[in-house]
Amino acid sequence: MSVFVNGNAIFNAARQGHYAVGAFNTNNLEWTRAILKAAQETNTPVLIQVSMGAAKYMGDYKLVKKLVEEEMRVMNITVPVIMHLDHGNYEAAKECIEAGYSSVMFDGHDLPFEENLEKTAEIVKLAHAKGISVEAEVGSIGGEEDGIVGEGELASVEEAKQIAALGVDYLACGIGNIHGPYPENWKGLHFDRLQEIADAIDTPLVLHGGSGIPQEQIEKAIKMGISKVNINTENQLAFAAATRKYIEAGKDQEGKGYDPRKLLAPGSEAIVDTVKEIIGWLGTPEVK
Ligand code: 13P
Repeated sequence: MSVFVNGNAIFNAARQGHYAVGAFNTNNLEWTRAILKAAQETNTPVLIQVSMGAAKYMGDYKLVKKLVEEEMRVMNITVPVIMHLDHGNYEAAKECIEAGYSSVMFDGHDLPFEENLEKTAEIVKLAHAKGISVEAEVGSIGGEEDGIVGEGELASVEEAKQIAALGVDYLACGIGNIHGPYPENWKGLHFDRLQEIADAIDTPLVLHGGSGIPQEQIEKAIKMGISKVNINTENQLAFAAATRKYIEAGKDQEGKGYDPRKLLAPGSEAIVDTVKEIIGWLGTPEVK
């Protein structure tokens, strides 16, 4: 029996209840523990996701799944956890379906639309046969993440309808959102397009590039139909800032302050705080 739950019921409830559930990228052991800790302490469901690049950095998809699974065991995690592949290509999605992830994203935004549709349909069939949820993407997310570069084109309502009709469980749509920090001259989310998509389909919608979007915009997007908000950079910045503070204060040179268990502790705590704060913004209700 898998310790993970799929995202179907959780994100449908979120869309209907006008709140969102956080999808946090893991990058290593500290990230994994910090995300789980924040979810447990807030008593809310959480999605832990790994990009293709981060999985390669840590080892492979199986290792990441085992890491999350075993940390859940030793940390006595009781809140629902969704184990998700972030921005997978076709091969990665298939590999994670085999490896027992409870949710996968197939990101075919850079393929001709017909091919994106065809491959998404195949992944939906394979995943659903095993009770695994699927996220697809229309339009694209601006910026760069692990070598995947998005031009940031707006999602078309017609394409969103066609992809949703395949039975995808949640849909990422480009609405002016960007991975990584937002540039000074960023124009904000395209709420008109989000409204059109939300009016056209009931599928829970996903906001990628959640880091750095002002709280009011995130809250407005959630009211309109965003049910999953992806966060990575915010945790990276929080971790780096806390670690820098520790080193700049010379703490790594006091006693055994160089021990990674001490050196990485402030950064890890900063991730816990950041994840908890974001969960608050999203309005994720406590598990009953
Ligand atoms: P940020 O790194 O901008 O938070 O984006 C994360 C993301 O969308 C992962 O898919």
